[in-house]
Amino acid sequence: MKIAKTISSVRKLVQQARTEGKSVGLVPTMGALHQGHISLIEEAAKKTDFVVVSIFVNPTQFGPKEDFKKYPRPLQNDLKLCRRADADVVFAPSAKEMYPQENLTWVSVKKLSEPLCGRSRPGHFRGVITVCSKLFNIVQPDVAFFGQKDAQQTVVIKQMVADLNIPLKIVVCPTVRQSDGLALSSRNQYLSPRERRDAACLYRSLQKCRQMVADGIKETKRIVAQMRKIITAAASAKIEYIEIVDAKTLQPIKKVDRPTLVALAVRIGQTRLIDNILIDAQK
Ligand code: PAJ
Repeated sequence: MKIAKTISSVRKLVQQARTEGKSVGLVPTMGALHQGHISLIEEAAKKTDFVVVSIFVNPTQFGPKEDFKKYPRPLQNDLKLCRRADADVVFAPSAKEMYPQENLTWVSVKKLSEPLCGRSRPGHFRGVITVCSKLFNIVQPDVAFFGQKDAQQTVVIKQMVADLNIPLKIVVCPTVRQSDGLALSSRNQYLSPRERRDAACLYRSLQKCRQMVADGIKETKRIVAQMRKIITAAASAKIEYIEIVDAKTLQPIKKVDRPTLVALAVRIGQTRLIDNILIDAQK
């Protein structure tokens, strides 16, 4: 496995793979890798011949009061995990390499960035989409791999790729969870033992939703009320939002009668966690 710190060196490595006729997969990450990230790398290794993992804590997607400074950066361990998961290259640029001058060009998918997480994180998706556009231009992969864990991110990126005619396939991989259902996240390490126990309420509420829909209950108001009950029962939990939306448009719906995204953001103590499920309902 090669480690590239510069744009020119990762481009050279990809070019070499191209001359060997290999297809190229990209897994964009911010590091502090866990089994969720690894599942994306393994999927990339199955579906493409040459796997590039990017590790870059992207400053432009963090708000001024968010955790950019304290975001974990265990690079040596990340490299070990990438090697084990069969990555061919880790692209780990510095902030100066990615943003050598004041960035004046932004890519934004406004309508899909405003609901859900966009409400409390203005500018977040603009930063995500801009850095992903840069990574797509730098690596020029055939396929890029993203996790369902960040549902809105996948919707926004798919839209950007379609709108800008980027010749690239987006593959979305399932959310990897711990045994009590908590979705793996680099931010879980901020949780105290008590908060960690409380954090299972996110998935419990999503399961309740799935069960209610399976029982024939379609009114989203009724479902959200039950989900709210489960989460407020956890002492350290504070709901930011629980929303049931059209999986494509991300607009709220009254009835679960189409492909539906059930998404939530909850603060457990100081730590903001998100989770979601997709429900493939029909009229
Ligand atoms: P990061 O949070 O490091 O996540 C990198 C990728 O791993 C994302 O596609 C995310 O959805 C996926 N992922 C995280 N937890 C997962 C889990 N439990 N199961 C499955 N996949 C999971 O998302 C970002 O970084 C950044 O916004 C990025 C796209 C790299 C742009 O900076």
